[in-house]
Amino acid sequence: MKTISDATSGDLGVIEFQDLPFAPKRVYWIRNFQLGSTRGNHAHRHLSQIAIVLQGRLIIDLFDGNDRTSHELSVTSDYLEITPGKWRVMRDAAPGTVLMVLASLEYDESDYIRDWNTYLKWHESTR
Ligand code: TYD
Repeated sequence: MKTISDATSGDLGVIEFQDLPFAPKRVYWIRNFQLGSTRGNHAHRHLSQIAIVLQGRLIIDLFDGNDRTSHELSVTSDYLEITPGKWRVMRDAAPGTVLMVLASLEYDESDYIRDWNTYLKWHESTR
């Protein structure tokens, strides 16, 4: 991500949609993260996402059914691409954190897998 910094007036971040792995159809954001609780705890069958921290910092854990990777995101990090089929957990957000997410598809609850055991079975069936 490109940042244009101006020492006297602030920092401007920019993403050209043409540079992304998909053309976003939706953007949403999360703020007011509650101390000690997590978000996410689901996977998507088809949806791709890009997570960008606009303020603060948090950790996103990604599971692919076998392995887990942990990603600490802050305002100075690059964006995190979350490809379809990844179980994600957002945790340990600092007070005041704002997370913006670009999504490849419109909201569709039927694209979610919210149960871990269902996810493991689904993941096994897609291999
Ligand atoms: P969810 O994706 O589960 O949030 P998180 O992964 O941050 O924990 O969404 C929380 C609620 O918001 C759920 O009831 C679905 C709803 N929602 C929408 O209505 N539209 C949207 O675009 C999104 C992302 C969620």
